[in-house]
Amino acid sequence: TDRYGVFGNPVGHSKSPMIHADFARQTGQDIDYEAIEPPVDALAEAWRQFFADGGRGANVTVPFKADAVTLCDTLSHRARRAGAVNTLIAGGNGLTYGDTTDGIGLVRDLAFHRVSLTQKRVLVVGAGGAVRGIIEPLLNEQPASLVVVNRTAAKAEQLAEDFADLGAIQGGGFDSLKGTFDLVINGTSASLTGELPPLPDSLFAPNAWAYDMMYGAEPTVFLQWAGPRGAKLLDGLGMLVEQAAESFFLWRNVRPETASVREMLRQSLN
Ligand code: ATR
Repeated sequence: TDRYGVFGNPVGHSKSPMIHADFARQTGQDIDYEAIEPPVDALAEAWRQFFADGGRGANVTVPFKADAVTLCDTLSHRARRAGAVNTLIAGGNGLTYGDTTDGIGLVRDLAFHRVSLTQKRVLVVGAGGAVRGIIEPLLNEQPASLVVVNRTAAKAEQLAEDFADLGAIQGGGFDSLKGTFDLVINGTSASLTGELPPLPDSLFAPNAWAYDMMYGAEPTVFLQWAGPRGAKLLDGLGMLVEQAAESFFLWRNVRPETASVREMLRQSLN
């Protein structure tokens, strides 16, 4: 049995153990996947212990995604640029390799729902850690334009500058918003507190999609706002499943199917 786990605090709410147990069952992989809760200031100790005890790989979730960057011995290019790590792989030599699968998870979830990004006008709301992780995979899909708006405009401008070499990206404040979009992704943490970013009513192009990176038993306030304004709605549950599938693939070189886990998770919310 190969050992895997997820580092988070709090981690009790994490769906990752359930998702990976299902992937393992489905693909016949002999793995064990546990939830690990280090004190918020002591990821390093828990990490060392886990890999010294034979851990083969792990996920990293809130609040450790940025700390993990500094603890990895090597990083993928996309993890370094994102400034975040959600997937760890143990090398044979005691070294850890860090990657991020959040952004690819989002892109795969969109593909699962047959939402194409190519030549589409895409708006990302928010410019925090979660958004930094999705920019590169989004730009790889070659949207016509990628606009990032944030409450703190300077952060969106900086983010656009940091990724400008990868494609057409612009950053600004909410007051800089103009025109309509084919896909609007809410990557702010506003949903957590039931708040709504200040978005204009006429934001959605015909047949547009609204995507919230958060999810819950009820639609998020952003999705509740977007529905009546004509958008088709998706929440972040599929992204969670797809980032997990990508981690599983990096560890086991087997790609699990995600439809049944999506359904199981959706039902577990009610
Ligand atoms: P995360 O890891 O979830 O990305 P973060 O790095 O703290 O967390 O980023 C939170 C994001 O949500 C930021 O873009 C933040 O805007 P600011 O950069 O201006 O702080 C955004 N955010 C949080 N609450 C918000 C609210 N009520 N309205 C609009 N944006 C909000």
